[in-house]
This record gives sequence, C-alpha cells and structure tokens, in this order.
Amino acid sequence: MANVTFTSPRMKKDLTVYAVAGDTKTLLAVAKAHAIPLDFECENGECGSCSVQVGILSDKAPYGLALTEKEKTVLRFAGKITAQQIEDAETKDMPPPWRLACQFVVRNEDILVTF
Ligand code: FES
Repeated sequence: MANVTFTSPRMKKDLTVYAVAGDTKTLLAVAKAHAIPLDFECENGECGSCSVQVGILSDKAPYGLALTEKEKTVLRFAGKITAQQIEDAETKDMPPPWRLACQFVVRNEDILVTF
C-alpha cells in the first residue's frame, strides 16, 4: 500500500489516496481515478503536459527508478531534469525532481505529487 498525496494551488486542500501494492497503475491513472485536476493530453509520454514534481516520503531507499525513454526526452527538452539527474536516477536510484505522470508507475512507497 502506498500513500500518494497530491498538492496543488488548483486544489482546495491536499488529498492523500491509497494505491494498492502490486498495482501497476501510472500516477496519471491514479489521479484520474480520484478526480485530481492534473493536466494531460497525449497520455503517451510525448506532450509533457502531465509533468509533476514527485517527492519520496518513505524512509526506505527509493525503489529502482525506471524513466522511460520518452520521459527522459520530454523532461530534458522542457529543462526539468538534467543529464546528470538522469544518470543519477539510473545508476544511484536517486529520484529526479520531475516525472511524467503518464509514465510514472506508482510503487509501494509514499510520495508527494506537486503540480
Ligand atoms: Fe502527454 Fe503525459 S500526457 S506526456
């Protein structure tokens, strides 16, 4: 079970929802299921409209990070992550500050999503 907390000036208050462990839903799917007003267009990692900041709230070491190639390309092009942050994510499991909600698969860890 993972707590996913959404925070945004576009919401009256923060909302924490529960994602079931082993469920391989994307963050965008979780947001849509709970009527979170997260922007999206392509739902395929190409437009960048679903960019969100993701913070890890668990004390545990972050799960191995898997940025899709589309996610790397779009976030780099938008200037939201650097080549170094991509390398750190892939070699040191250091979470980058921005993700694409349509590409990020919710894992069994608590996260804070800011948009
Ligand atoms: Fe287009 Fe996520 S909705 S990149």
